[in-house]
Amino acid sequence: MWDYSEKVIEHYRNPRNVGKIDNADAVGEAGSLACGDTLKIYLKIDNGVVTDAKFQTFGCGSAVASSSILTEMVIGKTVEEVKKITNKDIADELGGLPPEKMHCSVMGYEALEDALKNYDNYTDLDDLRNEENKLKSGEQLVCTCFNVTENQIWDAIKSNGLKTVEEVTNYTKAGGACGKCKSVIKDMLDTYYKKEAEEQVLTPAQKVIKINNIIEKQISPELVKDGGDITLVDIDGNKVMVKLRGKCSGCKNSHLTLKAFVERTLKDAVDKNIEVVEV
Ligand code: FES
Repeated sequence: MWDYSEKVIEHYRNPRNVGKIDNADAVGEAGSLACGDTLKIYLKIDNGVVTDAKFQTFGCGSAVASSSILTEMVIGKTVEEVKKITNKDIADELGGLPPEKMHCSVMGYEALEDALKNYDNYTDLDDLRNEENKLKSGEQLVCTCFNVTENQIWDAIKSNGLKTVEEVTNYTKAGGACGKCKSVIKDMLDTYYKKEAEEQVLTPAQKVIKINNIIEKQISPELVKDGGDITLVDIDGNKVMVKLRGKCSGCKNSHLTLKAFVERTLKDAVDKNIEVVEV
């Protein structure tokens, strides 16, 4: 049994804005009956403001609640504001969704995105999301069981900070049937987080804090085990000046300790250009 918030239950029991809008200015769809859930959203837009929204869905209680709250969220907002709504906003507005049901909020987001793409006056959604789309490279189907594309998986990983294949399945359904696509999803996660780690540039102040932390919490405790210790004396760019203490001080292997352990640890964790010297 899933653990639903009161708001999810309330929206499921009393869904708002069910139905269709004749002469809607934007209509969007997501999901498919073959995959078990489908959602169609209709928007009425006047002078760039959403004045009405309705939905039709075939899906579980979470899909109904996500669609219902989404219509409430968009009514009264400008198109620009609506473009910024993410699946996480939908889930948050519901007071959260069980992890296994997060794909319902993603379906709401995708239907909304589809509607905005089809909006007559739509001009710049691609520009707005260009930054987020850097990692994307064409629409390729990753999961044939649930018709989930590569771009949908990139979106879910990035917007929700997904870290495991299981989480991707919860948010997109990809991987939830035959499982053949799981290795591709795993590769996508590895690629995403490798790239993110490479792009993480520390400010000088962050670097000093990180070096200090690693010396205190990782390096020093290891040396203390053998009766030694280490003190950070100064940092100048990538040059880290330290003093070995206790048994480490004057030990014939101190150079090895400094280079093979202290410097190696800091290079791996902070910056490959770090050089450690004893003063
Ligand atoms: S191809 Fe993804 S679960 Fe079958």
